[in-house]
Amino acid sequence: MYRNHTCGELTIANVNNEVILAGWVHKVRKMGGGMTFVDLRDRYGVTQLFFSKDNNADLYEQANKLGREYVIQVQGNVQERASKNMNIPTGEIEIIASGLNILNISELPPFTIEDETDGGDDIRMKYRYLDLRRNAVRRNLELRHKIAFETRNFLNDRRFLEVETPVLIGSTPEGARDFIVPSRMNPGEFYALPQSPQLFKQLLMVSGFDRYFQIVKCFRDEDLRADRQPEFTQIDCEMSFVNQEDVLNIFEDLTRHLFKIVKGIDVPAFPRMDYAHAMKYYGSDKPDTRFEMKFVELKDLTVGKGFVVFDSAEYVGAICAKGAASYTRKQLDGLTDFVKRPQIGAKGLVYVRYEADGTLKSSVDKFYSQEDLKKWAERCQAEPGDLILILCGETEKAQKQLCELRLEVGEQLGLKDKNNFSCLWVVDFPLLEKDEELNRYFAKHHPFTSPKEEDFPLLDSDPGAVRANAYDMVINGVEVGGGSVRIHNSELQNKMFSVLGFTQEKAQEQFGFLMNAFKYGAPPHAGLAFGLDRLVSLFAGLDSIRDCIAFPKNTSGRDVMIDAPSRVDQDQLDELNLKIDIKE
Ligand code: AMO
Repeated sequence: MYRNHTCGELTIANVNNEVILAGWVHKVRKMGGGMTFVDLRDRYGVTQLFFSKDNNADLYEQANKLGREYVIQVQGNVQERASKNMNIPTGEIEIIASGLNILNISELPPFTIEDETDGGDDIRMKYRYLDLRRNAVRRNLELRHKIAFETRNFLNDRRFLEVETPVLIGSTPEGARDFIVPSRMNPGEFYALPQSPQLFKQLLMVSGFDRYFQIVKCFRDEDLRADRQPEFTQIDCEMSFVNQEDVLNIFEDLTRHLFKIVKGIDVPAFPRMDYAHAMKYYGSDKPDTRFEMKFVELKDLTVGKGFVVFDSAEYVGAICAKGAASYTRKQLDGLTDFVKRPQIGAKGLVYVRYEADGTLKSSVDKFYSQEDLKKWAERCQAEPGDLILILCGETEKAQKQLCELRLEVGEQLGLKDKNNFSCLWVVDFPLLEKDEELNRYFAKHHPFTSPKEEDFPLLDSDPGAVRANAYDMVINGVEVGGGSVRIHNSELQNKMFSVLGFTQEKAQEQFGFLMNAFKYGAPPHAGLAFGLDRLVSLFAGLDSIRDCIAFPKNTSGRDVMIDAPSRVDQDQLDELNLKIDIKE
């Protein structure tokens, strides 16, 4: 027997027990005077081992030679400690060692296996298997397991079936680039890795599976950000004989269940916000509603006073930062620099300070009187002590910039508390998005999303105004999941393809199998997919989804541990009939 207890479970109740533990040497502390303490670590915790020269001189010598991360087995007797550490569950006891067996030695690790490690990002990723020994990282994976496990239970209890769909498929039209895989047996032809199992889950509905889910890897060749990985995991779901409301209810229940079971938090029912409202008041389809600071439009109050910048702008919008009138000149300059960064692209920032004595001081005092400024303040519902920040420009652009500013000010004012969860559904997304350069429409969600029935007539006259039965779940400004009611009628699907500019032949070539399937009795169906990585990182309060993925890719899409992607031998390429001519 290698062990009869773990390193995280022995307490004062085990005093005088003879135990065997196995694990990694976390720390060796030579105290002098013939005494050495060793902290032994495994997945479950740390237990203190005590070696003394008086008890057993040989054992004591051996213990002094142990190096960090050696794998050992120890036999001993549990005793109450003289000096206790009440911060850890095993902190009241120690093991008086009577046997020591070195199971494996270890080279000195390239960074310390501690919560606050001395290892930088690159080195920890290169040695990810060591990084995973750290509590913080391990806890994230435990949380991920729990969320996935509870999700399976919840969906199983509600008759959802987990069905696996293939990974080697043809290209799916979901907006990102595909990863492609050459086929040896079909020279010159390629598989694509799924961006999601979208088409397969719809086919499963045609097959009558009724309620499907899958916790599934998806692949998208897109530029990486903190909340994006080229391979990520979805909790992918689809249901038949349901409408939008049914889908929202069941997956809101799932999310609230997870909050309750995993975090012990009761989150209130999710409000619904339509897309148009989200854009008007937050400049984003994933508003962070942990705090208010909604946009206020000031265009009508600002025109005609000689300030050309506002006069010539399509949109003048403000946010009111509560209690921020105390911002110093330097802080305000900082915000101006922030909005002027190329990623944000504003030309400048106007502010109005509502001083405690009721006077209003602005950066545009030359143009506007106290009366003018008072009207702005009233509309912004500002009070003495508040700071009004104003951006202007072309409506959509200025709203996006104001959104960034709102989030930044929210951060500075401490309003983005990671332990406060604000969940909502954003609904009524536009069906289509226009690419002005190409002068054509693209599906905002995907081409299988159904338009709202009342907007059908607009498909011909004003496609851009058609709203979809599409929804996103947003938590703390993160799009955690999204889905839609699908088109299940071939005629409407054909119409959609034509609005999207597909010729009959092209639509047949790409989606013929789906169109054919729809001829054989497709039920009304709808679904959604959660981003598991995003959900876990929200629950764990992480800044990047990388930290809840066991073996993530870096920002260049590389796995630096296994050094992938990598070149392959010419023989392999020959077998695949591939000629590669890379410009060095
Ligand atoms: P969508 O493309 O909105 O919908 O994706 C669903 C959810 O997956 C997560 N997600 C990602 N997470 C990490 N890295 C990425 N690169 C990444 N891309 C997406 C997000 C997102 O909300 N088939 C549809 C769903 C449906 O209609 O049922 C789909 O894939 O959290």
